[in-house]
Amino acid sequence: MRNEPFRRVLVTGGAGYIGSHMVLLLAQSGYEVTVVDDCSCGHRAAIEAVQRAVPEASIHFEECSLHDVARIGGLLAARRIYAVIHFAARASIAESFVLREAYWKNNHDGTLALLAAMRAAAVRRLIFSSTCATYGVATNASLPIAESCAQQPVNPYGESKLAAERAITAHHRAALAETSAFSYATLRYFNVVGSDPLGRIGEAHDPEHHLVPSCLLAALGRRGPVEIFGSDYPTEDGTCIRDYVDVHDVCTAHLAALNRLNESAAFIFNIGSGRGTSVREVVAACGRVAARAIPTLPAPRRAGDPPILIADAAEISRVWGWTPATVRLDESIANVWRWLSAHPNGYATIRRES
Ligand SMILES: NC(=O)c1ccc[n+]([C@@H]2O[C@H](COP(=O)([O-])OP(=O)(O)OC[C@H]3O[C@@H](n4cnc5c(N)ncnc54)[C@H](O)[C@@H]3O)[C@@H](O)[C@H]2O)c1
Repeated sequence: MRNEPFRRVLVTGGAGYIGSHMVLLLAQSGYEVTVVDDCSCGHRAAIEAVQRAVPEASIHFEECSLHDVARIGGLLAARRIYAVIHFAARASIAESFVLREAYWKNNHDGTLALLAAMRAAAVRRLIFSSTCATYGVATNASLPIAESCAQQPVNPYGESKLAAERAITAHHRAALAETSAFSYATLRYFNVVGSDPLGRIGEAHDPEHHLVPSCLLAALGRRGPVEIFGSDYPTEDGTCIRDYVDVHDVCTAHLAALNRLNESAAFIFNIGSGRGTSVREVVAACGRVAARAIPTLPAPRRAGDPPILIADAAEISRVWGWTPATVRLDESIANVWRWLSAHPNGYATIRRES
């Protein structure tokens, strides 16, 4: 099975949270995986854990930046890559206000560098991690948010990802105009949550900026109270509402994409559950799973936080038949709890154990 050309996939950002879950699913599904990650936010230990979980898998890890076009081009050619899954990015809204230039350089310029390397190596299939942050503030009339909704980001992170989306679309148009092949899928995830149910890999950011692991780390006494940023939003309990989708479901959407890319097809889909959960509801769910109170702290609204983001994910279901298999947020939270309880220091714990 490994020798089939379409099984050779390069994953950028594969040592990060979603990327490592993707590498695990690809490895389990018989793909030959090349991972490129500069380990700025990811962990080599995550890839080592995937290799231990699937010892027969072929996984090649290259610590390398997206900006190294020559090295990535060389890898793509030498490893005869069929398709690229592009996760590598900086992905925190709050940080994107502070490190604006770094976000543009990484998320937009890094994507251009990858496209250049792919063109040089004649690799013509790309799956891109985009985000609901490209939509901005939805009006009541535009909720749930469909792919056709206006994209007016309200933070530098969303701006930089939207610019990367546009660069990919323009690259596709130019390739087709000169009759060369290029096919892509842009997947706009909403809030990704959960981790490997067997607790072999998980989410480990420093500092952690996602709500569920932050609540569970607070429950474990590994951090102080969780700030509730704003309680005067126009929602039932006054806190922001988000759409949580399990990381495994996000990865199965990418497997579906790999099977659909061809010489010229272009897809843009939302990846979400279609359900909205408020910050307070997430905190309560984490308390339920951890069976302890989550300490919280009221805090002012943060810049760049839209009040409500809920996906209309009907299109990917209609076109590819993809729907999320995980229906209960508590199930995803329970997997994160399992991982964090066993690895409260993230991959640092794993390194010490092995
Ligand atoms: N986590 C979410 O809820 C969510 C939601 C929507 C979209 N996304 C997108 O999904 C992707 C993955 O997100 P994540 O949560 O796993 O983030 P993450 O920070 O855990 O992973 C990103 C990985 O990319 C690597 N990286 C960053 N810049 C790089 C560069 N220049 N060269 C090589 N590697 C580089 C980091 O080291 C890290 O391992 C991102 O593109 C993000 O925008 C995430």
